[in-house]
Amino acid sequence: MDMETKITTIRLLEMKKNGEKIAMLTGYDYGMARLLNEAGIDVILVGDSMGMVKLGYDSTLPVTLEDILYHCKSVRRANTNALLVADMPFMSYEIKPEEAVANAGSLVKWGGVQAVKIEGGVEILPAIKAIIAAKMPVMGHLGLTPQAINQMGGYKVQGRSSEAAEKLLAAAKALEQAGVFSIVLECIPEGLAREITAALSIPTIGIGAGRYCDGQVLVLDDMLGLYSERNPRFVKLYLDLRPRILEALRQYRKEVKEGSFPADEHSYK
Ligand code: KIV
Repeated sequence: MDMETKITTIRLLEMKKNGEKIAMLTGYDYGMARLLNEAGIDVILVGDSMGMVKLGYDSTLPVTLEDILYHCKSVRRANTNALLVADMPFMSYEIKPEEAVANAGSLVKWGGVQAVKIEGGVEILPAIKAIIAAKMPVMGHLGLTPQAINQMGGYKVQGRSSEAAEKLLAAAKALEQAGVFSIVLECIPEGLAREITAALSIPTIGIGAGRYCDGQVLVLDDMLGLYSERNPRFVKLYLDLRPRILEALRQYRKEVKEGSFPADEHSYK
């Protein structure tokens, strides 16, 4: 690991001060994590979105600590430069702060991550404070918090009413006060994200939160066109891999069936 270029939580604070945008993506495996590093991505999140894009669940709720840990181990073997953050899955931090500390500790100790991310506002402050007191950096997550899907009634834009917006702003300030090093703002109006970003000295990372956050995050499989079950407006398709992969697979099948693969150059003499 190159300590000169390794991104730290302190570096992210400097980036906000210098007006340097933070580029964050999710990552779930060794091969893609190598590419994320080569591309200079600042933060890799081993997100519980893996439950949907990798494990095929229809929400993130079934994801376990073991699932996250397994993928962290894979990503950390490739990661040299990015700040590696693991999502705390549903029911790994809500019950007792001591449990939250033990679970965050497993992700740091065995998963090799430098920080954990937790969804929620003031209701989870005790867990956040306990994890920080145990020397582990925490990233907050406000707005659309997919683990609360059953309370939110769907994947909807949050903070539209002035009351909801005020509540989000207050929650962001309370999280900063508690010591989180950054906050993900998911699916909230651009104006509100701008106001929260201006009110905080820690960086905000937006996803569906418009142009004025200090950084941006996307789910890797969404921006590469590998996950077609949901297409939120905020996703930009940087590469439409699905049809290209399908074409390659069909070509392989055809060549095997007709006997044109392997050819002479693929065979040992
Ligand atoms: O799980 C995830 O991928 C996330 C991002 C959408 C921020 O939480």
